[in-house]
Amino acid sequence: MTIEVERPVALVTGAGGDIGRAIALRLARVSAAVGIIDIDEGAAAETARLIEAEGCKAMAIRADVSSGSETAAFVEAIEERLGPIGIFANNAGIEGVVAPLHEYPDDIFDRLLQVNVKGVFLGLKHVLPKMIPRGQGAIVNTASTSAIRGRAGLAGYVASKHAVLGLTRTAALEVLGTRIRVNAILPGPIESRMIRELDLQVRRGSAALRRAGSAPYGRPEDIANVVAFLASDDAAHVNGAAWVVDAGMTVP
Ligand SMILES: NC(=O)c1ccc[n+]([C@@H]2O[C@H](COP(=O)([O-])OP(=O)(O)OC[C@H]3O[C@@H](n4cnc5c(N)ncnc54)[C@H](O)[C@@H]3O)[C@@H](O)[C@H]2O)c1
Repeated sequence: MTIEVERPVALVTGAGGDIGRAIALRLARVSAAVGIIDIDEGAAAETARLIEAEGCKAMAIRADVSSGSETAAFVEAIEERLGPIGIFANNAGIEGVVAPLHEYPDDIFDRLLQVNVKGVFLGLKHVLPKMIPRGQGAIVNTASTSAIRGRAGLAGYVASKHAVLGLTRTAALEVLGTRIRVNAILPGPIESRMIRELDLQVRRGSAALRRAGSAPYGRPEDIANVVAFLASDDAAHVNGAAWVVDAGMTVP
């Protein structure tokens, strides 16, 4: 006898980027449909095309996650067109610049907080009220190993990712006792546009900002696989976790 388990709808922000696209493609394997959100319309459309080529339904929406009205609108649109959101990968983020703290530009610091912190907050704020009445759902916020340590030259990014972990832990406590779970994934450096850009800036920066040796970079799929696990019933007892995926680079 086969038991038909209803597949959830997944929503992924920043899904036009390297990690978000890998998450969206990985979740497509276990989802009825995937909502693709990115500020880059072309990149979002390409991810949707790749998912449809794999035989899964997808819908791409251009939106800025730092806007409350745009976030409210894309959550409504996905629920209306695809169905109830069961999995939410709250992943969009930016890296800012590499500069010593005393030279770090105010406007870039502000933008990092807008996108990386307010964006994650707004995603939680608008998706949780959909999941709470249904009593189930899985949310994975993309933080970074920069959520649990300092990084010279990355004041804005590090501050923003520490805040993502704080939001994750707060949301996890607020859904305690339900079948809703909110976890954070903390990738170390992943082969991606973002890390290539940061590496370039570090190499151009002062010697103090250049990093000492490191493990090989991971692949976006390494993150996507762990997001899929955290979103699955196999992780039913995992809530409020800071799940490091960095090949051991931040082992204390
Ligand atoms: N690449 C890494 O090594 C690494 C390591 C740790 C954490 N992360 C985190 O992983 C996430 C994804 O990073 P990535 O490496 O795929 O970077 P990326 O730049 O390839 O992808 C980020 C995506 O987010 C989108 N985006 C940016 N601002 C947005 C906004 N305001 N609204 C909607 N979409 C927006 C971009 O257009 C892009 O497609 C980020 O939160 C990042 O901080 C990345």
